[in-house]
Amino acid sequence: MGVLQNDKIYASLKSIGAYAPLKVLNNFDLEQMVETTDEWIQKRTGIQERRIANEDELTSDLGVKASLLAIERAGIDAKEIDAVICATLTPDYLCMPATACIIASKLGIKDVMAFDVSAACSGFIYVMYIAKSLIESGLHKNILIVGAEKLSGVVDYNDRGTCILFGDGGGAAIISATTEKKEAILDIQISADGDYAHLLMTPRSRVTHSNDEKTLEYLQMAGNEVFKIAVKTLTNDVIEILEKNGIQSSQIDHFIPHQANYRIIEAVREKLNFPVEKTVLTVQKYGNTSAASIPMAMNEAYEAGKIKNGDLILFDTFGGGFTWGSALVYFGGK
Ligand code: UT7
Repeated sequence: MGVLQNDKIYASLKSIGAYAPLKVLNNFDLEQMVETTDEWIQKRTGIQERRIANEDELTSDLGVKASLLAIERAGIDAKEIDAVICATLTPDYLCMPATACIIASKLGIKDVMAFDVSAACSGFIYVMYIAKSLIESGLHKNILIVGAEKLSGVVDYNDRGTCILFGDGGGAAIISATTEKKEAILDIQISADGDYAHLLMTPRSRVTHSNDEKTLEYLQMAGNEVFKIAVKTLTNDVIEILEKNGIQSSQIDHFIPHQANYRIIEAVREKLNFPVEKTVLTVQKYGNTSAASIPMAMNEAYEAGKIKNGDLILFDTFGGGFTWGSALVYFGGK
């Protein structure tokens, strides 16, 4: 690719890859663990099963497997990657080393910037935003972005309000420089509101709460409150990004929302008038995989042969923080 000096540089989503651990935890397994039923879970969430990583399989391992696919599909060598950014709320280590550093090392990527981003379920859209900015600035050419989670490590399998929802997995993409506007990431908007932090949390850091008996051991969620705010925020976010870019919902080829709960996706889809066939749905197979949810869903549609070069994709996500974001992307891959 020759980027001429006077050509405008755009960031392009060149490839997608994902990995789902092999072990399946289905609703009937959960019936044996907490007071719940397959019927309740399917009716309230749409989830039938989720994947669980092995004990010795870490978030970085899930990210590496997804990255290998993304790198191969982008048709580049790992040596051409000049930054690695990983979104996760379940890093291999608390704060350091960053999971992105471990992923880069496992992939043999040396001497490039590597860091993690903590934005919960919105993480993948956050890292896409950072990659887009770095590429449009002209400082970087090929960035590996990863969303990977081992949520089974922070979920309380005695809490029926959360353990039915979450699963493990990884997704990755290569974001590259291009001069082709028809293959560009058109727009991304991300935001946050920490006033809602208490509604969805992982264990407190021992650094700041070492003597606090209330230090949480597991992920905690006020599910119903999160649900209502999620529907409203996800809907408004899409309306805003479409209006801002003068795009009608009928022009979208694929709507890829965060896979948290089938009812949330349906509520947003119906309000925005997206046809079912254009809405990517994987929550039934993988549950909510947080930062991995969007790339895993996109990968599923890609592997089914549904996503073609130049297709216009709308991403929409919401998660702990609260954080949220949406993106309009012309697929730049093959
Ligand atoms: O990814 C980031 C953002 N996260 C989300 O977007 C998740 C949002 N929240 C949700 O998906 C839903 O709120 C849940 C699936 C977690 C819960 O569904 P809900 O329809 O909001 O149920 P609820 O919390 O209002 O609870 C209704 C009833 C309660 O019983 P009572 O008080 O009415 O007797 C719960 O105790 O359902 C009960 N319940 C269950 N029953 C059977 C809660 N969990 C279960 C369960 N099985 N697993």
